[in-house]
Amino acid sequence: ALVEAFQAKIFDFYEKNRRSFPWRLTTDRYAVMVSEVMLQQTQADRVASRFARWLERFPDVRSLASASLREVLEEWSGLGYNGRGQRLHRAAAMIIERYGGEVPAEPAQLIELPGIGVYTSRSIPVFADNLDIAAVDTNIRRVLIHELNLSESITPKALLDVAEVVLPKGRSRDWHNALMDYGAMELTGKKTGIAPLTKQSSFKGSRRWYRGALLREL
Ligand code: ADE
Repeated sequence: ALVEAFQAKIFDFYEKNRRSFPWRLTTDRYAVMVSEVMLQQTQADRVASRFARWLERFPDVRSLASASLREVLEEWSGLGYNGRGQRLHRAAAMIIERYGGEVPAEPAQLIELPGIGVYTSRSIPVFADNLDIAAVDTNIRRVLIHELNLSESITPKALLDVAEVVLPKGRSRDWHNALMDYGAMELTGKKTGIAPLTKQSSFKGSRRWYRGALLREL
């Protein structure tokens, strides 16, 4: 019931409070990749104001790969950290070479591309294909730790295991959007880090306890 209660809490919140973002209106894998790379280090509102313009200028992998680096960085300007724009450009070239221009669907293939790390390699198939795997960014990490009384020192691998256990199968896309909205709207700013439950209960905060409890739920 613990897992189901957590899922119900997050989905209830999402039903009432979901945010609308342009990248949530597409399942095109290239467009999702662009949004996820932009969102790596840029505020969602800023990305939201630039995402459609990017897709007008570079509507697909081929148009991005065949543009000059100068053109790409010009369109990237304002998003910060030019390195990400440069890596996205190089990723497009690799996708042409290796996959004939189709963004691959497998995390193991995606993570080979420049600028794509563990989180992004998973979030692309989650949002584009509704794939039943967990993707944990800093925002989702905060939600899992706070709501499931995990230790702040939980390892990325252990956290990914927990995230897989609580993932509602068949609803991966909605679930990840819901976790992000919950984290952004309920756990940011002053609410974050004030009297975390892990501080009140070192027992429930221990990863060993938690994994056992979760796995018994299944
Ligand atoms: N940050 C990274 N991916 C996101 C998404 N899909 N929605 C909102 N914020 C995000």
